[in-house]
Amino acid sequence: MAFDVIIAGAGIIGSSIAWRLAQHGLRVALLDAGRMGGEASSAGAGMLAPGGEIEDRTPWNDFALESLRLYPDFVAELESETGQRIDFQRLGAVDVAASEEEWRALEARGRVQASLAIPSCPLSAGELRKQVPLVRDGVAGALFYPQDALADPYDVMRALRSACLIRGVEIREGVAVEAIRPSADSAEVRTSTGVLGAAAAVLAAGAWSSQIPVEGLRLRRAFPVRGHLIGFHLESSLGPIVRHGHTYLLQRAGGFTIAGTSSEHAGFDRILDPRILSDIHSRAADLLPVLSTKTPDRQWLGFRPGVEGEGPAVGRAGETALWLAYGHYRNGILLAPATAATVAGEITANLETGSSGRSGRR
Ligand code: GLY
Repeated sequence: MAFDVIIAGAGIIGSSIAWRLAQHGLRVALLDAGRMGGEASSAGAGMLAPGGEIEDRTPWNDFALESLRLYPDFVAELESETGQRIDFQRLGAVDVAASEEEWRALEARGRVQASLAIPSCPLSAGELRKQVPLVRDGVAGALFYPQDALADPYDVMRALRSACLIRGVEIREGVAVEAIRPSADSAEVRTSTGVLGAAAAVLAAGAWSSQIPVEGLRLRRAFPVRGHLIGFHLESSLGPIVRHGHTYLLQRAGGFTIAGTSSEHAGFDRILDPRILSDIHSRAADLLPVLSTKTPDRQWLGFRPGVEGEGPAVGRAGETALWLAYGHYRNGILLAPATAATVAGEITANLETGSSGRSGRR
């Protein structure tokens, strides 16, 4: 077999797994029907923000917190392997309360989150103004989450491409995976350019994962949850991530400021909806009045990888040589380090055990 592992999907999840496997000396093929990181990974804002996402203790929420802990080393290792810089900033986040009622709800959420090891501290309107000088007047207060961070997914994907190439991963773009036939100790992968065999395969095709039939297994259904975003080149500094309900704003190191978002079940429709874009703009301008007179410099959408059931599909599919790594929904950028550590760790351990009992596999 030419490859130890074939990965279907070269988004941030599949690429991170490929990199980790190649670091272990495995021969990896990373396939994508389009471009590496060309879908949800490059559309995402890159908020690494359990403070805005987690309100209870579940195994998946613990997984997200673990992934946030892994992030600084994940970024530092990618930077040192590739010599490329990644915009990763731990500026914290503020959740703004527009009214006393919202403030009480935020305080209650903060108390629950403290018991989950997500720290936050209250800010008065004056303290918020010091942290976020652009925020509007008349808010009731805010909660500050010091651990929330952001990473530019574009930088992460660019570094992952280099890191994969340095480690010998074979990246094949424009190659669609059409079917996977896993057995107990190998996988046959049918692609648009021919059939490949490997000791293991990974299904990491995000919202497209259910379009790849997997013989003999009934997997949780993946589906797209579309989200719109807009971006502005801002001269002034935003400070921490700013959130209010479903609206968020964050600023890249170079000043590009992203506002989101929306959530639609609209299949893979790529046509931007002007009403949704204008709604995001007015919600963002309500928080930062400076945006009200600005025209967005960029408007785009992406397809979050939704999945049936609780949490993403991560881990071995039954007793087969197929691993699943899809359905990360709103948190694909955040969950990449922990997903890669888990999936690459399991595959490596499995292949080592298998090869000690068999000769000639590698
Ligand atoms: N992670 C934020 C979003 O999905 O919009």
